[in-house]
Formats: sequence, C-alpha cells, structure tokens
Amino acid sequence: MRKLLSGISFLLLFVLISCNQSNQPGNSDSRGFDTTAFIQLGDSITVAVQQVLLSNVMLATKAGGAGHAVAFCNERAMALTDSLALKYNCRIQRISDKYRNPANKPGEKEAALLKKLGSLNAASPLIFNEDSALIYYKPIRVAMPACLSCHGAAGKDILPGTLEVIRQQYPGDLATGYKEGDFRGLWKITFTKE
Ligand code: HEC
Repeated sequence: MRKLLSGISFLLLFVLISCNQSNQPGNSDSRGFDTTAFIQLGDSITVAVQQVLLSNVMLATKAGGAGHAVAFCNERAMALTDSLALKYNCRIQRISDKYRNPANKPGEKEAALLKKLGSLNAASPLIFNEDSALIYYKPIRVAMPACLSCHGAAGKDILPGTLEVIRQQYPGDLATGYKEGDFRGLWKITFTKE
C-alpha cells in the first residue's frame, strides 16, 4: 500500500513537471482557437482525471484488494470520467492498442497514431485542429509498479484472484503483459468547436 501511495505521488509530480514544459507562445488558427491554450487545458484535465481515478483505485484496493478495485473500475471509471468531462465541457477517453475495455479501442487513424507514438517512445502531448473539434492526445505510460498489479504479467505481477475478476469482467482483455515504463496508450480529449 505504501508503495502504491509513493508511486502515485511520484506519478503526479512527474505529470506536473511535464505540464510546465508545454508553455510555448500562443498559436491561433484562422477561427481564433489558441491551440497552445488547449494543450494546457488538456494537460490540466488529464492530471485531474488521473488523480480522481488513481485515488479511487487506491481506496478500493485498500478496502478490498486489487480484484475489488477492478470491479470498482468496471462500474465507476466511466462515471467518474464523465463527471469531469461535464465540468470541463469536453469528451475524455483513454485509448490503447491493447485495450481492456472494448470502449477504449482506437479507430483506424488512431491505431496508426498509437503505433507511431509507441515506437517513438513519445511523451509530449499533441493537438489536432480539425474542422469541428480540437483533439488532444497525450501518451500514457506504465509509470509505476502499482500499475503492474492489474496490467503486468499474468501469474507473476497479477495475483490469481485479481486475474479471475479481470477475466470475468473483461473477457476479451488485451491489457496485460506490460512492464514498468512501457507505452500504454493515449489520453484523448475532444473539445468540440461551437
Ligand atoms: C486495480 C487494478 C488496476 C490498476 C492498479 C490499474 N489499472 Fe488500468 N485499468 C484497470 C481496469 C479494470 C481498466 C478498464 C476500465 C474500464 O472499464 O474503462 C483499466 C483501463 C486502463 C486504461 C484504458 C485502456 C484500456 O485498456 O481499456 C489505461 C490507459 C490504463 N488502465 C492504464 C493504467 C496505468 C498507467 C496504471 C498505473 C498508474 C493503471 N492502469 C493501474 C485496472 C487497473
């Protein structure tokens, strides 16, 4: 548990430091959307969502172990994310080529983006300025050992009880076999232009 807590503070520190580095001069498109400002907004939203998800996973793990936390994620992760999306007026998703929840499966273009960013070992956020929306992406890494208790090697990092709950709740799960530091996927935040 202490390991999980210190891992989480490390991750938050890391995320906060990396956010400070995206302070570049403003970049406006022809309709006046300042893409740099949206990168900064995306950074703060992903930090906030991550914090909410992690603190809830931590509490659920403390209350009933990792298997219980998996069941909790299954029931509550989307609702927690949605309430923040409402607050920030955007759509918040996490996508991965090796997804656990099929709702997080990438589209065709995104599969190519995941492949490219994964092979480049990218860390910085990107923003795509499309006709109807600004779309922010930020790489997600397996940043701490605590992630491995649900995404590491089955039978080694993931306890049998936890694996059982994962297989039950997510029959087509692809999100295991990761090592610390691996590229895990992307945050995707969609800001619709009005
Ligand atoms: C207690 C188990 C548990 C821990 C610990 C955990 N996860 Fe997950 N993770 C899950 C579950 C369950 C889902 C599916 C959530 C859903 O239904 O949306 C998931 C989904 C994800 C997704 C979305 C893509 C997908 O596979 O569906 C990413 C990205 C992710 N986790 C990254 C991480 C990272 C990084 C860490 C460590 C900071 C971590 N997870 C720690 C259980 C866990």
